[in-house]
Amino acid sequence: MTEKRQLTFALAKGRLAENAVEILEQCGVDCAPLKEQTRKLVLFDADRKYRFIFVKPADVPTYIERGVADIGVVGKDTLLEESKDIYEMLDLKFGACRMCVAGFSSKEESITHSTLRVASKYVHIAKDYYAAKGIDVDIVKLTGSVELGPIIGLTDIIVDIVESGKTLEANGLVVLEEICKLSARLVVNKVSLKTRHREIMPLIDKIAKVVEMK
Ligand code: PRP
Repeated sequence: MTEKRQLTFALAKGRLAENAVEILEQCGVDCAPLKEQTRKLVLFDADRKYRFIFVKPADVPTYIERGVADIGVVGKDTLLEESKDIYEMLDLKFGACRMCVAGFSSKEESITHSTLRVASKYVHIAKDYYAAKGIDVDIVKLTGSVELGPIIGLTDIIVDIVESGKTLEANGLVVLEEICKLSARLVVNKVSLKTRHREIMPLIDKIAKVVEMK
């Protein structure tokens, strides 16, 4: 009989990683190996009970949907953009930010053409938002430094996450509309939740309690 693999976590690299590890630690998951400087892509706790992979945020839903990871921590922005067939189990309440439309405050004057041009890393979110409003837009996909869009004249506005607002401020841009509020979410593979219910549910209950106490 083949041995069951370790319960696997897919954690988003970057701004959410530190808080995700902290919450897992508070739930009694040994995260010491995750804090070591290493180029290894697959890590284990000391008892080899859990397996961890750190991946680009946009890839977390893919690993979870495909079932090679059971539990993930990722931003709501990524979940909305990727729209994968996975369970969103908990709002982890950290990584709070907003999905916004931003641009120059004198928006009307600067737009001289009929179709609004929008730069974004979140093309699906932007498309859905403007489709719901019945506004025709030309969406330009960028992978970072989206604020450059209006500054350099590539687009009129941007759809992007705003956390402190410092990037907008430093570049002379302002929030024009708020699309939705965002934070980190705990996600689970649909099959894993059924087949590994007895391992996953107690862990989720613990995580929910830690989040509540914060
Ligand atoms: C994000 C986002 C904004 C900025 C918002 O970019 O795309 O540019 O953070 O944060 P703030 O409101 O606290 O300034 P990120 O730092 O992930 O880098 P990127 O531009 O390379 O995507």
